[in-house]
Amino acid sequence: MMFSLRSVRNAAMSLPVFSRPAVYSMMREASRKVQVCTNGNDTTRRVGVALFGLGRAGTIHTDNILTNPKLDLRWIIEENLDLAKQFVHHRNLSTTTIQPKDMARALTDPNIDFVVVATPTSTHLSIVTSSLKAQKAVFCEKPVASSVDEIKLCYDEAEMAGKPLFSAFQRRFDPSIASVKKHIQTGAIGKLHVIKTCSRDSQSPSRDYILNSGNTGIFGDSAVHDIDLVCWLAGETPSTVYATGHAFIPYIKEAGDVDTVAITLRFPSGLIAIIDMSRHAVYGYDQRVEVFGENGMAVVQNMQPTTTVHWDKNGLHGPRLEDFFPTRYQEAYKRELEHFVSVVEGKTQLLYHRNDAILTLKVAEACAESNRQGQAIPFHFD
Ligand SMILES: NC(=O)c1ccc[n+]([C@@H]2O[C@H](COP(=O)([O-])OP(=O)(O)OC[C@H]3O[C@@H](n4cnc5c(N)ncnc54)[C@H](O)[C@@H]3O)[C@@H](O)[C@H]2O)c1
Repeated sequence: MMFSLRSVRNAAMSLPVFSRPAVYSMMREASRKVQVCTNGNDTTRRVGVALFGLGRAGTIHTDNILTNPKLDLRWIIEENLDLAKQFVHHRNLSTTTIQPKDMARALTDPNIDFVVVATPTSTHLSIVTSSLKAQKAVFCEKPVASSVDEIKLCYDEAEMAGKPLFSAFQRRFDPSIASVKKHIQTGAIGKLHVIKTCSRDSQSPSRDYILNSGNTGIFGDSAVHDIDLVCWLAGETPSTVYATGHAFIPYIKEAGDVDTVAITLRFPSGLIAIIDMSRHAVYGYDQRVEVFGENGMAVVQNMQPTTTVHWDKNGLHGPRLEDFFPTRYQEAYKRELEHFVSVVEGKTQLLYHRNDAILTLKVAEACAESNRQGQAIPFHFD
């Protein structure tokens, strides 16, 4: 039997205080059943989710799905079925776990409203297009696919299906970075002259991850975060791209990739962006952004788990930086998921579009080419 939240609350108010707890538990249950717009029909149930890939990114999204009362994680599709089964067992979940060869079971479930794709980038194209063909909205880890052509295929499919396809560049949803964007939009920084970002991972990814991270190596896999951020903050597309990189880590060199990169983007307005990145920083996850313009500067500083510092005869000591992306961008991951849920519910418009996804990977491809050629190359986006 289903109760509306309002009818349950009214019933509770008319009862004596001692009998309210049971009714309040019914209210909690009622509040978990949100209005979902499925195929144009209103139904009262939670938003159904199927998640592909329970690795580093997938675990972050799973935690956020499970703590979001609007969402119902019905399926986990994972190559390593034992891993998924153990996860579900330890968390005492009723989620069904299957391997990708059986994904049709999840995609034909009428109670699935969207899928989360958090598998290696090389697998995205087939999962994203199959999900859209099955009329599911798609929240996809960045980048949506390994090449610009593949990204276009994914968005073509989304347009044919009439379903949203979200490319999860979470930094746009980070409260500090979002406030820099507001400073730019309100004119507080004035005409932009320079944007600098520094992104250094605290641990380099595994050899397998590097081998599956796409055709453009670090540029398409990791620098895309900074490229997306810089182009979004700039509000224009670059006209020249220069990138240079080096491999200090042997298995990254063997894979033909680089782990340390400097990128310079020049924009038509004269704005210059500088991206400094590394796959490995011994002191923690280094994430800084600086926007400098005619009226001043906005800076996003590094985050640390605590702000406690300690002075002694040797000087000043403080905590390490946030360990890695799951903690540094914890709030951003939550907010991007909430944004997407709101899009699926039909309450808001998607904030990230086809051209954003194409631009970001096109610049990354140009960076890889510039690094190969050892020179700056002109860039044009139409
Ligand atoms: N937004 C971010 O901050 C961020 C951070 C890390 C990774 N990523 C992105 O997330 C994606 C996954 O990266 P990761 O670091 O989590 O990788 P990972 O290697 O840690 O995890 C991938 C998981 O997917 C599983 N898998 C492989 N193929 C599969 C398939 N066809 N179907 C279902 N499961 C499959 C693997 O067994 C593994 O458990 C990549 O696209 C990457 O670019 C984004």
